[in-house]
Order: sequence, then structure tokens, then C-alpha cells
Amino acid sequence: MRNLISSFLLLTTTAFANEGMWQPHQLPELSEELTALGLQIDPESLSSLDKFPMTAVVSLGGCSASFVSPRGLVVTNHHCVYGSIQFNSTPENNLLADGYLAQSLADELPAAPGTRVYMTEEVTNVTDRVLAGVTEDISGIERYKLIEANQKALIAEGESSGMHRCSVSPFHHGMEYYLIKRLEIRDVRLVYAPATSIGKYGGDIDNWQWPRHTGDFAFYRAYVGPDGKPADFSEDNVPYQSNSFLEVSAHGIEDGDFVMGVGYPGSTNRYRTASEVEHQFNWYYPESRQFRKDLIDIINETTEAESETLIAYQGTLAQLNNYSKNFKSMVESYRHSDFIDRRKQSEQGLIEWLEENSAKSGQYGPAIKQLLSLIELNQATKERDLVLAYMRYASLPSVAVRLYRLAVEKQKPDDEREPGFQARDLKRFRQSLQALSRRYDESVDKALLGYLLQRYAELPVGDRMKSMDDFFQIGDRLDPEQRKHLVDDAYSESSLADQEVRFAWMDKSVEEFQNSDDPFIQYAVASHDERMAFEEADKELRGQFQRWRPQYMEAVIAYKRSLGQPIYADANGSLRVTFGQVGGNQPKDGLINQPFTTLEGILEKDTGEDPFSAPAEQLDLIRKKTYGDYVLPSLESVPVNFLSNLDITGGNSGTATLNNKAQLVGMLFDGVYESIIGDWDFDDEKNRAISVDSRYMLWVMEHMDGATHLLEEMTIVE
Ligand code: ARG
Repeated sequence: MRNLISSFLLLTTTAFANEGMWQPHQLPELSEELTALGLQIDPESLSSLDKFPMTAVVSLGGCSASFVSPRGLVVTNHHCVYGSIQFNSTPENNLLADGYLAQSLADELPAAPGTRVYMTEEVTNVTDRVLAGVTEDISGIERYKLIEANQKALIAEGESSGMHRCSVSPFHHGMEYYLIKRLEIRDVRLVYAPATSIGKYGGDIDNWQWPRHTGDFAFYRAYVGPDGKPADFSEDNVPYQSNSFLEVSAHGIEDGDFVMGVGYPGSTNRYRTASEVEHQFNWYYPESRQFRKDLIDIINETTEAESETLIAYQGTLAQLNNYSKNFKSMVESYRHSDFIDRRKQSEQGLIEWLEENSAKSGQYGPAIKQLLSLIELNQATKERDLVLAYMRYASLPSVAVRLYRLAVEKQKPDDEREPGFQARDLKRFRQSLQALSRRYDESVDKALLGYLLQRYAELPVGDRMKSMDDFFQIGDRLDPEQRKHLVDDAYSESSLADQEVRFAWMDKSVEEFQNSDDPFIQYAVASHDERMAFEEADKELRGQFQRWRPQYMEAVIAYKRSLGQPIYADANGSLRVTFGQVGGNQPKDGLINQPFTTLEGILEKDTGEDPFSAPAEQLDLIRKKTYGDYVLPSLESVPVNFLSNLDITGGNSGTATLNNKAQLVGMLFDGVYESIIGDWDFDDEKNRAISVDSRYMLWVMEHMDGATHLLEEMTIVE
């Protein structure tokens, strides 16, 4: 079985295009193409996790980043450090508005609690060990639990040094599993972020859009103990010395130049069935977008301009807005495309191809049938699942549920606890309780809960939880006005808004929860059994998927190979490499996207009103054509953002855009509106990624923010 799978996953080296998020170990097979495309470093080095440039590339968990100095200086996007800027902001000292530049190491500010820098050190195929003991005849839940237990054992082994964070990630939806071992740096500090009027220029209006003029860059520094090992924050800690770092190009790139991105794309869905595609685009995206829009409206209605509350909700608002617009684009692109027809055709093609080969059809036919019926089963509870998923936006009830779960899990031996509640998770658990303090306001939380309960009350009785109905008196017992009183009372009686109280609950017993008179704790206790029953049913289903989806993937891959199409695993948060060129495109009839924007575009866009309100000093510099050393001759100006055809998705934010010598020429931070559906349906013509040009970053640092000491610390190549 093993060998069969490995040979299956060899690449078809003939069909190379910019599509594909490659695992580093796949790259030697692409060497010739990469050299032909213009790569000047040894392609082999891209597959070695312990060599330049891979040792310079890091993950922030959700964003990508890279080292740009021998002293742990990390460059990423402004929107990736947003939570840390927000965490350190107050209405009197509003770093979001003003930006922040530490003049010395001593001035660097602790990042938001839970911030990490991770370096991938080892990636090992552990498929055999993850599937050890798994047989055909076990139930879904048995399979799920066995796989999880095997994963936990591998993780425990990998983390024995106390310095690493491991995960066991499925690739190709469980055809393969890899143990990913990352060094985990837990003292991370905010070094420099430009003002939001630069770092988030254009705001949510320009988000996912071209032409773009966003200075989406910022800097962290990674610190370790004096012994060089990862440590909690301490005054004694010292900057981390990475094995390599990226040089920053002041020369930059031109239209047509080779570029690559090395980063951590979060998730894509390039191998889904037609029924999954239809469900996602016809139901999930529109419904989910409505939730987001409503939550955004509620937050905006409940907060006052320039208040502490508004600062507290900036990060939440940015996330809600980001994916609200993403889902809007998904739905629009889907309606205007023939994606579903093509997907149905290729599914039909797969079935016919299997039928032509009776042995294959016997092997995979039943798997496809099983998968399709599982998908249907999974969608049966979609309304309930969506409402319960959005419930997490009501912080106090959610935190109560998590705390009680911790108490319940703590009764078990560590290796039997639910992931997220094991000893290895407690530090970040506590940090998330701490971070909440700067992201919470009672009146907003109440309003969000009121709305979510209303949505919950609209569910058919069969989809609801008796415990939740009883607690919030759902049904025809209470009208919204009366429920509002009930919610108000719960907030005034609960003390979970107090950070110390939350911390204290981390150490309490199940009995103490059961005897508590905190309303939200009572709610958590009362709803626990029903939640667990949902979870068990869900795990049974996951286990069934774990059985049938990998077989479906084998069939799809075999079929794609027969058509000469590229085969790479869907993004799953692991390290990937993508290749392409700088270049514009034609997003719609009559419209050409030029590959670069320039400083002059900022003058043109500026209205003086947020989010198009660049600092007056910047507008002056541009009017005076103070370009310094950062001019792109063909533009006769400083390039601000540029387009490339790199294949990226959410999570790639902060990814270094590298030239053919692996020098930093920009940072990826977004995709154009038309490329968003590419997560499902990649199209070379539509797909364009947006990077902030390194020359613009250097220009802002030198000419606006006076970050000379950082410029000196980095290696800048002309
Ligand atoms: N669209 C970007 C991404 O998902 C995030 C940009 C954040 N900026 C904003 N204006 N919300 O990676």
C-alpha cells in the first residue's frame, strides 16, 4: 500500500504551470523547470529545511513571515501583527492610528498573548504509524479515535525536547500523513508597524482589490532565553539567531520577472465533489456572509467612534469584513462561471475512466458512492452547525463552555484528553483567556449574543438543544424583549469578564462548576451532555470520511495523472513553495490590470478621509517626487504594490515574495477579487496575488518613519 501511494504521488513533470502549492520534498523533481524559469539558486536547496532560504522562512500560525537579520528580526504583513498593535493600543496611545517604532531593543513591546514564531525543522511521512491498527471493519468513531491516538503519540514523541510544537497533518485528505516538527518561539515582540493610514491604506474598501496602495508590512522580533532555547517572555531573553535570513532587494523586480513564494497557505478545496461545490456556493457562502454582515452591523451600532470599545473590536471587525467580502466574491464568481458544469463533467469523466478499466472501477466505485452519501449526511445538520459555529462570537458563554470542557477533560489521563485540552495546550489556553480582556466589551457581547440567540431560536425544534432552549427560554416562551432582560441579567451576574476569575476557573473541579451560581458556567454545565452527543456523532462521521475520502482521492489523482494535470496536495497550513512571474492581467472585458502601482496612485486616491487618508507628510514627499534610491526606472517612480501569478491563499499573508536569487522583493498580502474562487477553481488568467513592493517598504522606512536602525540591521542589496 505504502509504495503504491508514493509512486502515485510522483509529479507529472511535463505539466508545469504556476498552479500548485508544492511541498518542499517535491521540488527536486521540478528542478529542470525551475532552472528554465530563471531560478538561480540550486533548486535542491529549496527542499532542504535546514538550509538557506528555508531556514529564513517562518510561520506565525495563520500568517507567514521571514527573518531579515541575524538578530531575529521578522518581517510580515501589517494585518498579521494587527492583533499585537491593537493589544498595545489605548485611546490615549493609539498605536493603530499612529504606528509604532521601537528605537532600541528595550522599547520593543510584547506581542499579543499567544503570539508565536514557528520554524519548520522536520517533515516526516508517518502514514503507516497514523493508520496502524486501522482495519476495514471498525466503526467511524473507532477509526477516528485510533487515528487521533496514533497522532497524539507521534506528537508527544516529537515534542519531548520541550522546544517544539508538532502536528500530524493529513495530505490529500488522509492518503498521507506527515509529522511536522516546528521550533516554537514564544517570546515575540512588536518592533515596528507603520500607521494604519499606510499599513491598511484603502482599508476594507480596497481589500481583495486592485489597483492597490497598501503598505502592508510590519516587524516582529523573536527572542529566546540566554541559552538560545525558546523561553517565555523575560527581560533576560536575547534575540534569536536564525540559521539564515533573507537579504532585502532595493533593486526589486520588473514585469515578467521570476518570483516565488515560500509560506504557509491555510486551506484550499481543489479536489471537492460537485455536490460539495454546490452546497458551499449555493448555501454556505451566502448564509455565512449574512451572519458576518449582521455581526459587523451590531458591533458598529454598539461602539462609539474613537472609543476604547472600538479599539477592542478592530481585529474582530477586520476578520469579519475580510471573509464577508471573500464570500461575496465567491458567490459572484461562481454565478458568472461554468465551474460547476466543469466539475460535474470531470466527475463524469472520472466515472467513465474507471469504467473503462473494470479493475479500477471495482476498487473505487463503491468508495465514490460511500463518499457521496456521507457528504449528504454531513449537510443534513448544516443550519444547526452554522448557528453553533457563529455562537463563538458571544465571548462569555463560549469561554464558559471551554472552561468547563477543560475541567471535564482534566479528569482523564493526559493522552486521552481532547486535543486543545492537553497539558501541551494549557499555556496557550491561558493566553487566549488573557487576550480576551483586550478584545471584549460587555455591551457588544450582549448584543451579539442577543442576535445569535435570535438566529438559534429560528432553527426547527429538532435542530435545537433542549438545555439551551431551557436556559435561554427559547421557543414561544419568551419574546425577544423578555429574552433581552434574561441576557442582561446573565451578564450582570456573571464574573467571567474578569481575567483573574477566568484564570481561576482553569484550576477548578467539575464539582465546583456544578455548584457555581455564575449563569454562564451554569449554562456550560447544563449543555455539556448535549454538546458531547453532537460531537460523538460528528466524530463518527469524520471517521467515515477518513475511510472513504482517501480512496476517492486515489481515484481522482490516478485520473488526473492520466490527463497530465498537476498533482499537489490541497493547502493545509504546512510549508509550501509556489512559482510564477510578475505580471498583470485582464480581469474583465475592457479592463487591464497593470502589474505595478506607484506613489502617485496614492495622491490620486487620497480623499483625506479614512481609509484613504495618507499622512500629510507622505503626500508632500510624493508631490516633491522624493523617491530616494527606490525608483523603478520603467515607472519613473517608486512601486507600491505589484501583481504576480503566484498560487496563494489565506495564510500566505506575510509570505516573502522572492526573486530568482531568493532575495526579498516584496511580501504577499492579498489576492485580487477575481482570484478568490481560485481556492476551489484555479484559473491562470484570473489568478493574481498582490505583494507590497520591498522598495515601497524601504522608502517608507527611510523617508517617512526614520527606521534607519532597522535599515542598518537588515542586509539591503542594490
Ligand atoms: N485579504 C487579506 C487576506 O485575507 C487580508 C487583508 C487585511 N486587510 C483588510 N483591509 N481587511 O489575506
